[in-house]
Amino acid sequence: MTSIRIRNLPGDFNFGARVDGVTWDNLYDEDLRAQLNQLFEDRGVIIFENMEPSSKMQVELSKVFGPLKDHPTKTVPRAADDIEEGVIDMHRLPEEVDESLHGVTVVNGEPQVAFIPWHFDHTYNDELNRAGVLRSVVSAPERGRTGFADGVELYKDFDPDLLARIEGLNAIYTLDTRLTQQRFGRTFEIKGDLPMMAPTVLEAAIFPRAMHPMVWTRDSGEKVVHVSGFSAAGIEHHEDPEGDALFEEVCQEVIRKAHGYFHDWKPTDMVIWDNWRVMHSVEGCDPKYERRMHRTTIKGDYGLGYFEDGKKIGEVNRAIAPLDLPA
Ligand SMILES: [Fe+2]
Repeated sequence: MTSIRIRNLPGDFNFGARVDGVTWDNLYDEDLRAQLNQLFEDRGVIIFENMEPSSKMQVELSKVFGPLKDHPTKTVPRAADDIEEGVIDMHRLPEEVDESLHGVTVVNGEPQVAFIPWHFDHTYNDELNRAGVLRSVVSAPERGRTGFADGVELYKDFDPDLLARIEGLNAIYTLDTRLTQQRFGRTFEIKGDLPMMAPTVLEAAIFPRAMHPMVWTRDSGEKVVHVSGFSAAGIEHHEDPEGDALFEEVCQEVIRKAHGYFHDWKPTDMVIWDNWRVMHSVEGCDPKYERRMHRTTIKGDYGLGYFEDGKKIGEVNRAIAPLDLPA
C-alpha cells in the first residue's frame, strides 16, 4: 500500500489531521480508504495537502467518505470549466458590492465580505449531510480563511451550568439565512443583504422550520455541542423572552469557547469536515478581493433532526431551490 503522511493540525488542537500523499495511484486502495475513514471519524477534520487541484479529484476524494448528496436543483451555479456534477461553485466577485454596501459586514470595525459566523450546514433540513469537502479555487490574498471548531472539544470547555440547562432541548432553524435577520450571537453589523439572498426569503415563508438538538451524543459516547445562532429562531417550545435569553447565552458561550482552527488555503488543499460534529465559519475578506470556493456534499444523516410539521424532506415541496452558502 502506498503510504501517506499523517500529522496533527498546526497549533494546539485536539481534533483534525493533515494528510499528505493521496494521489490517483492510491485513491482506490481499499486499505487506504478504510484508514482515511477511520481518521475522519476520530479527528473530525482532514486537511488533504498537495492534491491535484481539479474538480474530478475533489469528487473522487469525496466519494471515499460516502456517496455525494444529490443537489436538489440545477440552478445552483456550475461554471463551464472543469466543474464536475456534484460540485457547488461559490464565487464572490468584487463587483457584487455596490455603493449601497449591501452584503458587507463590519466585524471588529473592519468592512468585509464572505463573513459567516459559526454554523453547520443544512440546519434548515431535517437531515444533516455527513460532511462537506472544500477546495479554494481563488483565495483572497489576505484573510478569507475557513474556520473549523470541534463540538466535542466545545462540550468539554462549555459552562457546565449552561449545559445542564440546554441538554435535551432543540434549537429551531429556518431557511432565512440573511445575516440582517440573525437574532442571536451577533458579532457584526450589516446594512443590507445581497439581492442573491431574496429567493431564500420567499421560500422561508412556506418551508417548515427544522429542529436539531443543541447537544447530542456520538456513537463513541462523546457529547457534542452543536448549535448556532446563524439562521436560528430560538429554542423549541421556549419562544419567549426567557427562552430567547437562554439561547443568546448559549450563542455567546459558543463564540467565547469555540477554539477554531482557521485554514489558510493553498490551491492544492482539500478539506473535509464532519458536519455532525464540527462547526465552521468564514473569516471575511476585503470587498475588493475575489473569492471562489468549490464544495461537494456527502450524504448521510445523524437521525436527530426533524421538521416542525412532522414531514420528511422528501414530502416537503420546495418551490424555490435553497442557496448553498459559502464556506
Ligand atoms: Fe457552511
